Amino acid sequence: MRKSIILITGVNGEIGHGLVRSLHKLGVSNIIGVDLVQADDFVQERAQDCMIGNILDKNLLDRINAQYEIEAIYHMAALLSTRAEFSPVIAHEVNVDGTLNLLDLAMEQAQSQGKPVTFFFPSSIAVYGLPTLEEKLSAGAIGEDDYRHPQTMYGCNKLYCESLGDYYSHYFKRLSVTESKGRVDFRSIRFPGIISAHTLPAGGTSDYVPEMLHAAARGERYDCFVRQDATIPFMTMTDAIRAIELLMAAPPDALTQIVYNVKAFNPSVAEFLSKVKEYYPEADIGFITNDSRQSIIDSWPEDVIDNQARIDWGWEAIHDLDKAFSEYLIPEIRSRYGNS
Ligand code: SER
Repeated sequence: MRKSIILITGVNGEIGHGLVRSLHKLGVSNIIGVDLVQADDFVQERAQDCMIGNILDKNLLDRINAQYEIEAIYHMAALLSTRAEFSPVIAHEVNVDGTLNLLDLAMEQAQSQGKPVTFFFPSSIAVYGLPTLEEKLSAGAIGEDDYRHPQTMYGCNKLYCESLGDYYSHYFKRLSVTESKGRVDFRSIRFPGIISAHTLPAGGTSDYVPEMLHAAARGERYDCFVRQDATIPFMTMTDAIRAIELLMAAPPDALTQIVYNVKAFNPSVAEFLSKVKEYYPEADIGFITNDSRQSIIDSWPEDVIDNQARIDWGWEAIHDLDKAFSEYLIPEIRSRYGNS
């Protein structure tokens, strides 16, 4: 008998940590993690096993397929948007070919188990591409079908993988005699920038917000790489994980879309900075604008419409900007860095 498990790729990354923390609290003890690097102690203590390996390595995925019965896959491994601009071909391989490998694993598992395998895929506001800053400002909050013209490799990868997920869920090998519809139960959320009290992102373009906050908490200088008026949506890691859990718990017939927007708050850099200064008045924050990274932020929406997530699976963020600081970021960060 193969052991029944939950597979998390990119388990040592930011959302991987958040997921492990939350699933462990819920009593889930059968997590198998995969990451390019050795997972840290926090993850290892909460997972059943953590494998070091590459999602492009078919042998690794074959071993997992042979050894385990997979209930659900949380496919978090990816190269984020800034890193992907430096190595677009590698980003495509990891973000697209890697996702294809995991979707194929899900399909093989579903076929051998004779029941659907749920697949969570984190998409991103990077799938949007507003052509000019003027249009971004006049567009305001945008819906799932608007402005899907990504300007980054990462955004292209995420948008295409949403379609791959739709294909695996609904149309896989439709000319074959074997019925495959519904075997992979693909569910996706387009995340805004995420702010964790416990970890820092690596290689993203929305990193200026968490970097600014953690630098202030550590008493270190930080030079923000975008202008004070730069505005995109953000949410806390707590809300990001809640969104994943709500979506994954929803009955399949409640879901009307493959991918959903979710939102919480959308501060300009100046607004976020003034909040940081409320708690860390001595924060030493400067600005050295990187025009290229700024242009990526300018192409991402200022706000999104998330009505369908609210209707279909009861989405609502717990943290607005004020609560994000007072109820989550500051208390957790203080206990982490041990300062006041
Ligand atoms: N936070 C991501 C990034 O900046 C976007 O999803 O790349």
